[in-house]
Amino acid sequence: MNLTRRSFLGTSFLAAHVLAGSRSSSPRPRRPAPSGRISLAVIGCGTQAHANVPTFLQDTRVRITVVCDPVLSACGYSYNSKAMGGREPFKGIVDKFYGDTSCRMTADWREVVADPTVDAVLVTAPDHWHAPIAVAAMRAGKHVYCQKPMTLGVSEGKTMVRVAKETGVTFQVGSQHRGNSAFRVAAEFVRNGMLGECKSCTVGLPGSNGGQWGHGRDVTRMKAPGYFSPASSWDMWLGPSLHWENDAFIPGIHEPMCWRWNSRTGGGMITDWGAHWIDILHWAIDAERTGPVAVENMTTNLTEDKVFDWADKYSFDLVYANGFRAHVSSGARCGLTFHGSKGDCFCYPGKLERPAFLAKWNEKRDLKDSDVRLYRSANGHSHESDFIDGIFENRTIATDCEIGHRSISACHIANICERLRLQSLQWDPGAEVFTGAHADAANAMLEVPHFNGWTV
Ligand SMILES: NC(=O)c1ccc[n+]([C@@H]2O[C@H](COP(=O)([O-])OP(=O)(O)OC[C@H]3O[C@@H](n4cnc5c(N)ncnc54)[C@H](O)[C@@H]3O)[C@@H](O)[C@H]2O)c1
Repeated sequence: MNLTRRSFLGTSFLAAHVLAGSRSSSPRPRRPAPSGRISLAVIGCGTQAHANVPTFLQDTRVRITVVCDPVLSACGYSYNSKAMGGREPFKGIVDKFYGDTSCRMTADWREVVADPTVDAVLVTAPDHWHAPIAVAAMRAGKHVYCQKPMTLGVSEGKTMVRVAKETGVTFQVGSQHRGNSAFRVAAEFVRNGMLGECKSCTVGLPGSNGGQWGHGRDVTRMKAPGYFSPASSWDMWLGPSLHWENDAFIPGIHEPMCWRWNSRTGGGMITDWGAHWIDILHWAIDAERTGPVAVENMTTNLTEDKVFDWADKYSFDLVYANGFRAHVSSGARCGLTFHGSKGDCFCYPGKLERPAFLAKWNEKRDLKDSDVRLYRSANGHSHESDFIDGIFENRTIATDCEIGHRSISACHIANICERLRLQSLQWDPGAEVFTGAHADAANAMLEVPHFNGWTV
């Protein structure tokens, strides 16, 4: 398909039918019989797809049938920048695993959404695409595994939650750390009062640009590289984000993984890692379906830079209705430290540091029937297979759409406070609006603008 911007905007059938969708025309999500198989499409064949795809391949209830990416094939992916990404390398991975050549490729996710043989989609495209793709997929009756951060802003999340409820699809947010026992045990310590009174937590997020989350700060304005194939598929990368002058490709923010550092496509580290740690925080303090009532004590080194327009040094507090205070900082030890009257507990993937009196804690022996037991996937399943369980069994799974929306909303409101260069803002988690001083300016930033004819 040769997509010029004009033809792309003029795809009236897709624009009207797939993007806007309508409640009455949404097909019912398909839930195969227990002996059946889920046909899964991968939308976004990059760094995180390298983590999710092998796990889905291992699940015999799944068949990956389509891979989609505007990039045909390129290098520079993953934390070591050595992996290949794009639809061709991923077709190679899938075909090699199944021992055939049947996996289809496309540069245009709308073909995936319009394909009635696809039951579910994995959305591993950059953040500016999550809401448009996920909403269209849900409207087409597809189950969605959507990577974190679930959205680029609060308005998108509200729409996604509504559509997930209306369509009844199974929706899993890529908050896979819920399956890591270090986090669950720490959260159960907090929920069950084992640390004594716990009224605060320190949340350490990454700070600086470069290193693992970007390949440098090259702001040369270039033509999009040839790996966008066909050339017009560069439009399918930019999508609803505001284009740069002359549709420029800027390596520092358009090479693999780098888009996180610009607000047109990502939310900086506050959303990138906040999505994970605030998700765990909410799990631990039972705030999964609500949110903070204030952001306070914001400090940031945000500059006027228009390309790298997120701070790499910041700290703020999220305050909850019951007085719980989470101190979030790029300077704190990465992970979560819950502070209890009887001692602190630190958690990070695979690492749980607990007070000495809990050193011999054994959940099988020590968790009482009356204690809160947080969600465990069936049979030790991965987060990906938990999603597949949810599709087959039509039941609650680890991280539904509302949970993902609430954890990322807390990050978005902090980003708004930072962007407005305010020290604090008040938030009403019921109405999902700012209240009090500067509320008007802050509320104006809840709506994510979508450009180039795209809508959610
Ligand atoms: N759960 C986790 O721990 C975790 C870790 C890393 C990344 N992520 C998330 O995964 C997502 C992808 O991040 P990444 O690091 O893999 O980025 P990446 O840049 O390495 O890969 C993204 C891929 O999506 C493709 N893409 C862009 N527009 C597309 C479109 N319209 N349709 C299909 N594909 C499109 C890009 O061409 C690229 O190949 C992000 O939302 C990120 O936050 C989650």
